Amino acid sequence: MRAICAAAAGAVAAALVLRRMLRARCAEGCACAHAGRGPTTPHKRAAVRVPSTDEDATPARADRLHSDPTAVTKRTSNLSWDEYFMAVAFLSAQRSKDPNRQVGACVVNSDKKIVGIGYNGFPWGCSDDVLPWAKHGETVLDTKYPYVCHAELNAIMNANSKTLKGCTIFVTLHPCNECAKIIIQARISRVIFFSDMYHDTTSTLASKRMFGLAGVEVVRFSSQRSGVTLDFAGMC
Ligand SMILES: *[C@@H]1O[C@H](CO)[C@@H](O)[C@H](O)[C@H]1NC(C)=O
Repeated sequence: MRAICAAAAGAVAAALVLRRMLRARCAEGCACAHAGRGPTTPHKRAAVRVPSTDEDATPARADRLHSDPTAVTKRTSNLSWDEYFMAVAFLSAQRSKDPNRQVGACVVNSDKKIVGIGYNGFPWGCSDDVLPWAKHGETVLDTKYPYVCHAELNAIMNANSKTLKGCTIFVTLHPCNECAKIIIQARISRVIFFSDMYHDTTSTLASKRMFGLAGVEVVRFSSQRSGVTLDFAGMC
């Protein structure tokens, strides 16, 4: 009993220390969830910032920006729409339990609203710990292939809109022939893929043939960026 109480007290103390740290870090106008809650202790990052030769950091520039609001212009290093939706597909892929390949998909409507997201995994109720994840086995039943739902299938089945007609699907890997059928039948009209690593397989060839016949536009993703970094710690 005493050990439990000591542990609980320790946890409370740790939580208080953490709260104090968060306050100290975030009281100064930071836009994080803790902003404005604490006393106006200096922002930790501001406090440790070293003087820079960068023109942006000079007091003169800061004064100018303060007194002349028109000097503040919009940020131009934003993600493009395509980068944004492809990054969402990549993020979704991170949820996959497949030890070999993690694939993500993101369906977007003509208003640039995300209407479905998915990643590869076993069907509902089919445990990741029961079905096999292997690529090779004694029989095909001992491999993942007969069981796994591809990211595209999940993104389409998970869609929160009644119809996907005219939508675009962003995929981290070119759709296989089975997914091509589903995409076409969902009346999705554009596919933007990242990797085409299985381009010479019969599955991908069949997929491209069907997309061509159905008039689905298939585009390779392009971007100047090599990737998008998610930096949780950098938010505060
Ligand atoms: C920022 O977003 C706009 C669309 O809102 C886009 O036209 C522009 O290319 C984006 N900037 C970059 C660097 O991709």
